[in-house]
Amino acid sequence: MTADHETSVKAEAIVATGLTKWFGAGETKVTAVNQVGLVAHFGEMLFIVGPSGSGKTTMLSMISGILRPNAGNVKVKGADIWTLNNDQLADFRLNTIGFVFQDYHLFPRLTTAENVAIPLILKQHDWNESISEARKQLAIVGLKNRGDMLPVKLSGGEQQRVAIARAIISRPEILIFDEPTASLDGDTGRMIIAFVKENILNENRCILIVTHDARINEYADRILHMEDGHLSAGAEDQGTE
Ligand SMILES: Nc1ncnc2c1ncn2[C@@H]1O[C@H](COP(=O)(O)OP(=O)(O)OP(=O)(O)O)[C@@H](O)[C@H]1O
Ligand SMILES: [Mg+2]
Repeated sequence: MTADHETSVKAEAIVATGLTKWFGAGETKVTAVNQVGLVAHFGEMLFIVGPSGSGKTTMLSMISGILRPNAGNVKVKGADIWTLNNDQLADFRLNTIGFVFQDYHLFPRLTTAENVAIPLILKQHDWNESISEARKQLAIVGLKNRGDMLPVKLSGGEQQRVAIARAIISRPEILIFDEPTASLDGDTGRMIIAFVKENILNENRCILIVTHDARINEYADRILHMEDGHLSAGAEDQGTE
């Protein structure tokens, strides 16, 4: 499907249409995401902001192949991800997406270096080389000497940086970060996002960030607003018919 008027020369990374998710039924039914349309391009850093409970995490989960929508579809590089079978979906999550969960989702019994190395190990890379690459990524996010520690020994902000290192280690084309700086101080948050942005722009990847953190707004190429399950796009993205 093509837009009525072409507004950007950048290739489309993600195109979501009519994306809808509800939880519960009857009187307790909550429509967390309601008919959301979204286009994210390669070479851009797109921010989504909105109040708590507005559906941001639910939407990211559907875009990333983690949570199946009740309605609508998600095309990533033109392919409808929710028509994939479970194996294909797992491959998609491993190979195409780097996801930072709002609550980190680190494996508590693995060291921080092992946590960061997981995407490489799942891709059958050599164990020692994967751990050594993980240590490099940890150094980049300011955790040079934390590789042998268990996540429980780290502060919230340090765990958040481990999650970021794990998302970027295998250089996925699309990065999806859910509140990646919520536990970081202003300087560290800006440093991490600036690093990620430089990487993206260099390599023409796509990054989608959900954030409450106005301190990092300066890095956004575009900011969309989520409210009560609806996403209000910028004028160039509206595509109304
Ligand atoms: N698994 C679930 N079961 C039932 N309700 C859910 C579930 N996940 C989310 N919800 C509901 O959907 C709505 C949107 O939740 P969501 O986590 O997407 O919001 P959010 O914008 O990410 O909020 P926050 O900024 O606090 O992280 C909320 O009302 C929430 O209670
Ligand atoms: Mg959330």
